[in-house]
Amino acid sequence: MRSCKNLLVSGGAGFIGVNFIRLLLSPGHAFSGRIINLDALTYAGNLMSLEDIAARHAGRRYFFELGDIGNFEQLLSIFTCYEIDTVVHFAAESHVDRSIAGPEAFIRTNVLGTFRLLEAARQYWGSKQEGVLFHHISTDEVYGSLGETGYFTEKSPYDPRSPYSASKASSDHLVMAYHHTYGLPVTLSNCSNNYGPYQFPEKLIPLMILRMLSGKALPVYGDGKNIRDWLYVEDHASALWAIITGGRTGEKYNIGGENEWDNISLLHSLIALVSGKTGIDAAAIEATITFVKDRPGHDRRYAIDCSKLKGELPWKQSVDFETGLAKTVDWYLAHPQWIAQIQREKYQQWLKKNYDAR
Ligand code: NAD
Ligand code: DAU
Repeated sequence: MRSCKNLLVSGGAGFIGVNFIRLLLSPGHAFSGRIINLDALTYAGNLMSLEDIAARHAGRRYFFELGDIGNFEQLLSIFTCYEIDTVVHFAAESHVDRSIAGPEAFIRTNVLGTFRLLEAARQYWGSKQEGVLFHHISTDEVYGSLGETGYFTEKSPYDPRSPYSASKASSDHLVMAYHHTYGLPVTLSNCSNNYGPYQFPEKLIPLMILRMLSGKALPVYGDGKNIRDWLYVEDHASALWAIITGGRTGEKYNIGGENEWDNISLLHSLIALVSGKTGIDAAAIEATITFVKDRPGHDRRYAIDCSKLKGELPWKQSVDFETGLAKTVDWYLAHPQWIAQIQREKYQQWLKKNYDAR
C-alpha cells in the first residue's frame, strides 16, 4: 500500500475536492498526513465548505494556499515548503455549458495548468519512483457519447466533443505522456457524473433543487432523454483514496455509479423528493418543467464500466441513488447560508447568460 504524508490537493475548494478533503480528515480515516489545498477560488471555489475543517486542523493537518495552478514559481515553492509527495489534481474549469460560452479559461487551466503542475512535480521529484505519486482526476466525457448500448472501458478510444471534454482529454494525454516519457509516477481516473453536498448550483441536480425551492422554471435541454451515470460524491472520494493508495502506477481507472438515468426521469424523482420534504405541491413543481433549446453537441449517453477498479481494489459504491438524492436534498435544505453565499451577482449573471437565450 502506497503511503502519503504531504498531499497537495489542487482545486480543493470545489465540489469534489471539498468532499475528498472532508473524507481524508474525517475521524478514523487511515490518512494521517497533511493536506495542502491549493485553489484559485474561482466562482466555483468556496472556502465556506471547509470552515469547520480549517477550524479543527489548520496549521497542523490542513493548509490553504490561494493560487493558480498556472503559476509555476508558486507551485515549486509549495512543493518545497511542504515537501509534497502526492498530488491529487482536481483543479479545473468543470462546466460544459461554460466551456461552450467561453472556452479559453478551460484551455488555460485544464491544459496549461495541468502541464505546469506536472512540470513542478517532475522538477521537484526528479527521477524518484518510490514514495511519490501524481493522481489526475478526469471525466468519462473524454470518451465521447454512447448509443443506446455499451459502456466506456479504460480501452475506449478518446472522442471528446465539447471544449471542456477536449481540454480534459488533452490533460489526460499530458499526464500519461509524462509517465511514459519522464517516468513520472502517475495514476489517472475517469469518473461519471457526481452529485451530493457542496456542488455548485450550475450543475443539473443542485440547479433544479434550488429552482424548485424558489418556484422558478426547470430548464430541460432538448428532449430530456440524455442519459448520465450518477455517482454519489463520497463514493468518488473513496474510490480516489483506493486508487491513490493501491492503484498500479501508470494505470487509468474508470469510476462510475452503474446508475443510468435519463434527465427527465431523474427530474420527476427529484420533484417527488423535494415535494415530500418541503410540502410544496408536486403538481405545481411539475408544471414548471420547461423544455428549452438543447446544449450544442449535447452528448447523448454516458455509462461507465468500472469492473477494472472493482476487480483490482477494495472499492464499491456504498450509496444507492434513492438514498443519495434524499441526502443531497436534505443537505441543500439545511444550508441556506451556503446557498445565499454562492448565489452572488456573478451566479445570477451566469443564469441570465445561459438560460435567457434558450
Ligand atoms: P468545481 O468546478 O466544483 O471545482 C473546481 C475547483 O478548482 C474550484 O475550487 C476552483 O476554484 C478551482 N480552480 C479552477 N481553476 C483553477 C486554477 N487555475 N488554479 C487553481 N484552482 C483552480 O469542479 P468539480 O466538480 O469539483 O470537479 C473537480 C474535478 O473532477 C475536475 O477536474 C473535473 O473535471 C472532474 N470531474 C468532475 C465530475 C463532476 O461530476 N463534477 C465528474 C468527473 C470528473
Ligand atoms: O460525466 C462527468 C461530467 O459530468 C463532469 O466531467 C462535468 O464536470 C460535470 O459538469 C458533468 O457534466 P454534464 O454536462 O453531464 O453535467 P450537467 O449537470 O451540466 O448536465 C447533466 C445533464 O443535464 C446533461 O445531459 C445536460 C442536462 N441539463 C443540464 C443543465 C445544467 C439540463 O437539461 N438542463 C440544465 O439546466
